[in-house]
Amino acid sequence: MSTIAILGCMWGDEAKAKIIDYLGDSADYVVRFQGGSNAGHTIVVDGRKYVFHTVPSGILYPKTKCLIGAGVVIDPKSLVEEIKELEDSGLDFAKRLVIDDRAGLVLPLHQELDRNNEELLASAKIGTTGRGIGPAYADLTSRVGIRLGDLAHPAYLRQRIKELYRFHGLHLASNELKEILDSLKASWQVLKKYCMPIEHILHEARLSGANILFEGAQGTLLDRIWGSYPYVTSSCTIADAIGIGSGFSARYLDEVLGIFKSYATRVGEGPFPTEIHGDLAEQIRQQGNEFGSTTGRPRRIGYFDAVLAAYSSRINALDGIAVTLLDVLSGIEELKICVGYEYKGKTLISPPSHPLELNKVTPQYISLPGWEDDISAIRSFAALPPTAKKYIDAIQDLLEVPVKVISVGKDRSQTFKV
Ligand code: IMO
Ligand code: MG
Repeated sequence: MSTIAILGCMWGDEAKAKIIDYLGDSADYVVRFQGGSNAGHTIVVDGRKYVFHTVPSGILYPKTKCLIGAGVVIDPKSLVEEIKELEDSGLDFAKRLVIDDRAGLVLPLHQELDRNNEELLASAKIGTTGRGIGPAYADLTSRVGIRLGDLAHPAYLRQRIKELYRFHGLHLASNELKEILDSLKASWQVLKKYCMPIEHILHEARLSGANILFEGAQGTLLDRIWGSYPYVTSSCTIADAIGIGSGFSARYLDEVLGIFKSYATRVGEGPFPTEIHGDLAEQIRQQGNEFGSTTGRPRRIGYFDAVLAAYSSRINALDGIAVTLLDVLSGIEELKICVGYEYKGKTLISPPSHPLELNKVTPQYISLPGWEDDISAIRSFAALPPTAKKYIDAIQDLLEVPVKVISVGKDRSQTFKV
């Protein structure tokens, strides 16, 4: 048996789902433990593309049970749509999908608040996905949030919704209340069969020696506390969030696998020390199809930042690394990796915690030769061009964590172990 956490270690979009899918054929369980439909997890199988927002990526394997933990926030309407789309594509998961009844709900009110907050912040906006994630988590922390299990108790739910609007100082007309309740009732008709606590399921799975994968969403640098606050998401995304969000203590993990792209990207606002602009950024954006899978926004592009990556590695106690999208770097003559920051005449090897300072650091780079050849058909480390091997070795040496998996393309088949 093994319990492995698959975590994005930068600003999200590290191709976590691809690695979940790669390791998923032997997984008995795949578990989401935080985030919500802000995630956009893409898997390509035989040329067919699937994008998951809330449903765990393991759903494509016919025997894998997929659990959505208490730490996830669920937009009932969008989850019902996602479920219907997956059913329409021929997947059967009636007995394989379970959603913890403690999971919080994202309501249309939260999406409205998300938009309003962004307008209010104007010059300091976060650039959220607009999915209502921040306000939904905030309400849960304020103890006025609604949880999935509340949908089973209509009178209680009605009262809670009224109080939620009162809490926000908003008037709720009776026809509006009815509309909200009707919509939730319709979603509940679909969701109720999946709804039950998952903590004991995971407990028994562990005792029976099952293989369990935990699927992180977003990434360490978007963690609410350890990321580049305030330009972060509203959940904790690091390894220790697994216990909080699923009830399966992080102490039981056998392995934490950190996912990094071979370069860096970021969507939304916030510091990005190694960001690049111009032709090279555009080349990587096009080659890597760096457009958000949730919002379609063009992603910001940068060089691999080993300072932030090593920070991430420490926080998550990584046992191994997967480097994804290595093929995207083919044809770039000179590759750079940031190995330190210069700040106020000093060299920093760990990132400053304040965004104003992280914004002002000057990255110090090492330069490595690139490779010309298309590597997307390569299936072993040994067969990579020597300069690509050196690039991987450099990442491994700088992070002092072994690179265990490499991915060289979108398709399920384009991944190999090192
Ligand atoms: P996956 O799981 C990349 C970013 C948003 C914004 C910030 C806050 O696909 O890697 P939010 O809507 O969460 O309040 O937005 O976080 N963000 C992501 N960026 N990948 C994601 O998910 C993201 N989820 C949120 O762009 O900067
Ligand atoms: Mg994404």
